[in-house]
Parts: sequence; structure tokens; C-alpha cells
Amino acid sequence: MKHPLSGRTVLITGGGSGIGRLLAEGAAARGARVVIWDLSPTSGAAACASIRSRGGAATSFAVDVTDREAVASAAVETGPVDVLVNNAGIVTGKRLLDAADEEIERTFAVNTLALYWVTRAFLPGMIARRSGLVVTISSAAGLVGVAKQTDYSASKFAAVGFAESLRVELAKDDTGVDSFVVCPYYIDTGMFAGVKTKFPRLLPILSPDYAAGRILDAIESGRIQLIMPRFVRTLPLVRMLPAAWFDQIMNALGVNNTMDAFTGRRQPAEPKTATVDRQV
Ligand SMILES: NC(=O)c1ccc[n+]([C@@H]2O[C@H](COP(=O)([O-])OP(=O)(O)OC[C@H]3O[C@@H](n4cnc5c(N)ncnc54)[C@H](O)[C@@H]3O)[C@@H](O)[C@H]2O)c1
Repeated sequence: MKHPLSGRTVLITGGGSGIGRLLAEGAAARGARVVIWDLSPTSGAAACASIRSRGGAATSFAVDVTDREAVASAAVETGPVDVLVNNAGIVTGKRLLDAADEEIERTFAVNTLALYWVTRAFLPGMIARRSGLVVTISSAAGLVGVAKQTDYSASKFAAVGFAESLRVELAKDDTGVDSFVVCPYYIDTGMFAGVKTKFPRLLPILSPDYAAGRILDAIESGRIQLIMPRFVRTLPLVRMLPAAWFDQIMNALGVNNTMDAFTGRRQPAEPKTATVDRQV
């Protein structure tokens, strides 16, 4: 195992729900000390409570990863991190002309720019220790543009570019630190509630437990890229065709109809008696 989780400190942004929460629980079960950063003041604390009730080690901070000052001070409070999982993400799921300017800006602030603020906070320590891993949770939408995802898909293409550039930069400088990018198709967490897939055998909507388990296995084994399901890995081959053919193939696969019935996550109300480990 290149990056065993046992005994390591693993920070997961957006670790209060969905894939982030399952990654936090799974990393703790594999012996990691888990730190959760989440915008929601309650969900991170709830995830920690669940981990601790099973004998795991976990702390949470309520922090908005788009807020550079909050990121810097939360990083000081968090201390050294061995594995950083940049997982926090949002989606609007609207046509370009239907999305508000603020929704477009927020998508890039969370899905793209926050990668810079959070990674820059922890990378110097990793480089000084000549050990560490930066995980970027991008998306299959970071490999192919999808109707009703002009902001989301572009922000995830940027995440792929970020992780790949970082990977070669860290290797070129012989830092001992790795960068790993994850590009999953839809996962049944509620973030993309309502999406439909035309060919579930080729392009299944992934179960959150399956996706989180694959990601944790890939972290430990030292993979640098994880694209799932397998069929999505054929994209570079299809891209060798003329772009108009590529679009027709994506349409035939139903990719550009997946978002037709998208509703997205309906935010649960925050309980009034919120438990927060730390507020930043
Ligand atoms: N669900 C999918 O179909 C799917 C597919 C491919 C990639 N992804 C990516 O996986 C990641 C996790 O997705 P998910 O389905 O678990 O989503 P989710 O909505 O269940 O969880 C996202 C978490 O991020 C947190 N968050 C949002 N904005 C934040 C901010 N500014 N600061 C801190 N925390 C913030 C939320 O509070 C939430 O706990 C995202 O980056 C998403 O883009 C999801």
C-alpha cells in the first residue's frame, strides 16, 4: 500500500454528507484520524459522532471552503494532514440562461477555486515532510460536457486540470507528495436527485458505498486516477472521432438527457439545537 490510511490524518471537505461522509466513516474504519470540514454546522458533527460511536477518531469544523480566511484559520486549528480529500461540491443543474450569476460564481468558488485555497493551506507541510496525498473529487462531467451543466461540467474540467497539473508539478520537483483525481459518473447521494441513465448496464448510477469503497482502495494503493464506471474510460478513444460524431454518440448514449428530470438535493433544515465541534 502506497498511502495506508491507518494512523494517518485524513481531512475531508464536505465530509458531512454523501460521499464525503462515507469516505470519512470508511477512512476511520481503516484506522485513520478523520477531520471533517463542512459548510453545514451540524452534519459534520453528526458524522463525527457516528464515527466516535464506533470507536473511531474524528473531529469536525464548520468551514466554508470558499472563504480564504476561514480556510487559513481552520488549517491552523486542524494541524498537519497526511491525506487531503477535496470533496466539497455543488451543482445548480440549470441551462446557461436560467442560472443566476451568483449560482455560476458559487459553483466555481466551491468546485474549483476552493481546491486552490485548501490545497495551498496543507501542501507546504506535506512537502516539508516529503509525504502526503491530495485527492481531488472531480466527475465524469470533468471529462465530457453535459447539457444543463455548463457551470458544473466546466468547474469539474478545471478540477481535472488542477489535479493533473499538480501531479506533474509535484513529481517534477521530487516532493514525495502525490495528487490523485477521481472522476465518477452519477452517484446516488441525492446531490443529483432526479437524473436518469439510459443504459444502466454500461453507465450505472453508482451506489455511494461502492464509490466510497473504490476511492478508499485507490487512495491506499496509490492510484493517480480513478474513472468509474469502466465504460467512461473509453471517452478518450471516442474523442478521436470528429466532434460532431462525438456529440451524436453522447446523445445516443442518453448523456445529454440525464439532467432532464434533475431536481437536485432538497436541503434538510438545520436542527435548532445544533452540535458543532468547532466553528471557523
Ligand atoms: N453525486 C454525484 O452524482 C457525483 C458524481 C460525480 C462527482 N461528484 C462529486 O462528489 C463530491 C461529493 O458529492 P456528493 O454527491 O457527496 O454531494 P453532497 O451534496 O451529498 O455532499 C456535498 C457536501 O459538501 C458540503 N459543502 C458544499 N459547499 C461547501 C462549502 N462551501 N464548504 C464546505 N462544505 C461544503 C455540503 O454541505 C455537503 O455536506 C462533489 O464534489 C461532487 O461534485 C458527485
